[in-house]
Amino acid sequence: MEIEDDGSRSSPNFEYKGAHQAFRDRWKQTDDTMCRHSMSFHLHHTLRSEFFASYLYMVEKIPLVKLFPLTCEYIKGEKQFYYRAQQFYEDVPASEKGMMGDYVEMSNVDLEGSRQFLKRFVGPGKAGTHCALDCGCGIGRVTKGVLLPVFEKLELVDMMEHFLLHAHKKYLCDEADRIETYYCYTLQEFTPPKNKYDVIWMQWVACHLTDKDLMNFLFRCKKSLRPNGIIIIKDNMARQGCKLDPIDSSISRHLDIIRSIIAKAGLEVLGVERQQGFPEIIMPVWMIAMKPIK
Ligand SMILES: C[S@@+](CC[C@H](N)C(=O)[O-])C[C@H]1O[C@@H](n2cnc3c(N)ncnc32)[C@H](O)[C@@H]1O
Repeated sequence: MEIEDDGSRSSPNFEYKGAHQAFRDRWKQTDDTMCRHSMSFHLHHTLRSEFFASYLYMVEKIPLVKLFPLTCEYIKGEKQFYYRAQQFYEDVPASEKGMMGDYVEMSNVDLEGSRQFLKRFVGPGKAGTHCALDCGCGIGRVTKGVLLPVFEKLELVDMMEHFLLHAHKKYLCDEADRIETYYCYTLQEFTPPKNKYDVIWMQWVACHLTDKDLMNFLFRCKKSLRPNGIIIIKDNMARQGCKLDPIDSSISRHLDIIRSIIAKAGLEVLGVERQQGFPEIIMPVWMIAMKPIK
């Protein structure tokens, strides 16, 4: 922050203007030393304009920039954003209440909303019903209530072993026979098998990945889809910008931010729907279906 002549601190906006000016000066020097007729000059010029447009937008409009130090802080070689989530879920009971927190009574409404949304994208000429992957599955609440009634086989991935064990030994009962594989991995490290799934479901787990890891994970998921396969994200979406919850280490993003991450991963949005029937005071929950851009 700069100190004004009268000793007062300048506003954050003024501070950014200083940074913008510094960038402009730096770029100007580069212009002067480049051949103005070369292709690279034009490329450079375009990049510079694009860079500035997004830089200004990020600094002034997206609180995510302020979140960056929080999601990228390392202590003793460990990314704290992920370490905190791991610590949080270690103490979460393997139960529906554990998965839904204070909103466990909304579980049926949530599952019904998901079933209706899924219906729109599965069937003849659409996604098949052979195999689905439930990402950040927890104890398998979505697997049991939404996916098992539709798909012949399921695969589950979650970073917490005690959730997966509970799913297999208890929660999914006899239906556990149709679970082909349980993967105990974090999504940021997991590479799903290629060409395997008709639907990949990610509920209340995209919020636990940084932008970059979410984009890279979606990119890997894209390669693991069968023909006509789709990915569905269901998550809390901030009404504005991004919000970090330091307790469970999750970020809620505005729908437009999620859309831009999806586009960067080479996916195209097929349908978007807000979950109905949740109390107005809680953050809106949205479902987004997407497919690879051809
Ligand atoms: C709020 S629960 C939701 C569980 C389930 N999707 C549901 O809707 O009932 C979030 C789940 O994501 C898992 N999770 C959080 N961060 C993860 C990560 N980075 N990689 C894999 N799983 C993660 C947690 O272990 C937990 O099971």
